[in-house]
Amino acid sequence: MELKRFLGDMAVAFEATGNPVAINVAAMIQRLDSGAEVNSAQQVTTPSSMKQALSAADCHPAADQLKFIADSFPWISAKGFRKAPETFMGNYNFVLIVGPNDIVINKEFRCGIFLQDANTFYPSHMHEAEELYFPLSGTALWQKNTGEFEPINSGQLIHHLPNQPHATWTRDAPMLAFWAWVGNLSADTYTYV
Ligand SMILES: [Fe+2]
Repeated sequence: MELKRFLGDMAVAFEATGNPVAINVAAMIQRLDSGAEVNSAQQVTTPSSMKQALSAADCHPAADQLKFIADSFPWISAKGFRKAPETFMGNYNFVLIVGPNDIVINKEFRCGIFLQDANTFYPSHMHEAEELYFPLSGTALWQKNTGEFEPINSGQLIHHLPNQPHATWTRDAPMLAFWAWVGNLSADTYTYV
């Protein structure tokens, strides 16, 4: 139930951005049969920075339901995903909520949450999927292509085009975000730049 509420809150937040891709994702979220119970088969520990992100003063109201479900999510550690640069390994975690093989099965789009620890650099990378990030806690510095790193606050939408390089740099607070992929959903196109 909390998962359904969380996705509903994110759909409302996406709609309010006015971004056409976000509005499309919001409509796809609203069409989901998202009553799935989150019941992780593995014993997965919630990342320690999650509590800090959810209790931060800038934590967005759309993250409220996460307080009830974060501990039962099947968190994926960077260590278990793919080879990342040394400085980045182990400093981020994510949850695949909606997608072809995820908590809520859907082949049209992917979405989930992403948590990057404080003082961590997520090196520039790209993928074919078009991507939206909606930060829910923490102001990180975001870069597109080879541009300047710009601070983006919680509640500000970030939009990456297909194959557009992007990087994220956290300072003294972790950054929690909701994200969505549309287009080519295969992770096989994901590469560091
Ligand atoms: Fe990305």
